[in-house]
Amino acid sequence: MDTSRLGENTRSIRAGERLDRAVGGVTTPIHTAAAYMAADDVEGAYRYPRYCNIPTQAAPAEKLAALEGAEAGLVLASGMAAISSSLLSVLGSGDHVVLQADLYGGTHRFLMAELARLGIGFTLVSEADPARLEAAVTAHTRAVFVETPSNPLLRIIDLAGVAALAKKRGLVSMVDNTFASPINQRPLELGFDLSIHSGTKYLNGHSDLNCGAVAGSKTLVAAVRERAINFGQTLNTYDCYLLERGMKTLALRMARHNENAMAVAGFLAARKGIAAVHYPGLPDHPGHALAKSQMHGFGGMLSFALDCPPAAARTFMDRLGLVLEAVSLGGIESLACFPAVTSHAKMPREDRLAIGVTDTLVRLSVGCEDADDIIADLGQAMDAAHIA
Ligand SMILES: Cc1ncc(COP(=O)(O)O)c(C=O)c1O
Repeated sequence: MDTSRLGENTRSIRAGERLDRAVGGVTTPIHTAAAYMAADDVEGAYRYPRYCNIPTQAAPAEKLAALEGAEAGLVLASGMAAISSSLLSVLGSGDHVVLQADLYGGTHRFLMAELARLGIGFTLVSEADPARLEAAVTAHTRAVFVETPSNPLLRIIDLAGVAALAKKRGLVSMVDNTFASPINQRPLELGFDLSIHSGTKYLNGHSDLNCGAVAGSKTLVAAVRERAINFGQTLNTYDCYLLERGMKTLALRMARHNENAMAVAGFLAARKGIAAVHYPGLPDHPGHALAKSQMHGFGGMLSFALDCPPAAARTFMDRLGLVLEAVSLGGIESLACFPAVTSHAKMPREDRLAIGVTDTLVRLSVGCEDADDIIADLGQAMDAAHIA
């Protein structure tokens, strides 16, 4: 079914589906076969799960492509599989990549632990913008990688500006689009080459599966797929089924996340005892105008710094009831964590403080519950911890 002219709710629900015509089923069945009766020379034939080309894998991959406005999509075993295979699809020994400094901690770890070992150079750019990123480009640079809104401080980077610099300097541009989801941000429409996701978060949306995804041109996605095949990073059929099912409500969920996060950010901004609220939907957020111009919604993620000693911040977290303390994000349930001891725990303390990840910074993934209930829970936990 061609869904390219249809709305984002319709594409979330119907794009990519492989309906079970044999029995008239209205969902993509879970194909369990690990062997397919296809001749080797048949282009596009279903063959083998590790090659990422069985129908259960094709369905969410095509759905993502339809939502991102991409030629091709690919689903993989984790967000880190998507990030590592994307980077290694372009970079080889002697090459160099420019990245923004305030990246998801796991991406940072991958650079430190793996790229250096493979003889691939990288430069991390603080307070990244197109000009600062371009200043770090060398004769060996092959790619530029950004994350916006960034984790956990929700910094916004000018995507059209970065895409233009990449085109000018002949680089492949990649963005971790996890926090926004393709409903709130479509980087390929702004000139980006690859949009990468931890599908564990908003794409699936139910905190019950680990997966990743990539969208881009057929050529670039084929190169990522080649790496993923060699590293064995493919997503199994059961999880593909869950991912496709979760993605059907993506547009619906994102509308609620956007609405709830705006209400929670407004509450926190007006509340005493909060040193800072980081949410791009707030007019005083430094990236607000940019976010308004390049995003279709401000998203469900925010962070805030409690104005209290670390012990009181710990009490606040312990006293939350509805909001669960957990590291992940993007699910329908609200989750909170301290990035200093979770996503950024492996980052040296000085580096962490330098990018603004303080000890009392709370990251909140605002879920799809009733906003009033989330706000009441945050308020009572602050009262209990005497933060005012
Ligand atoms: C922004 C971002 N990118 C990538 C990842 C990695 O995804 P995964 O855990 O699915 O490998 C995460 C995980 O938290 C993330 O928050």
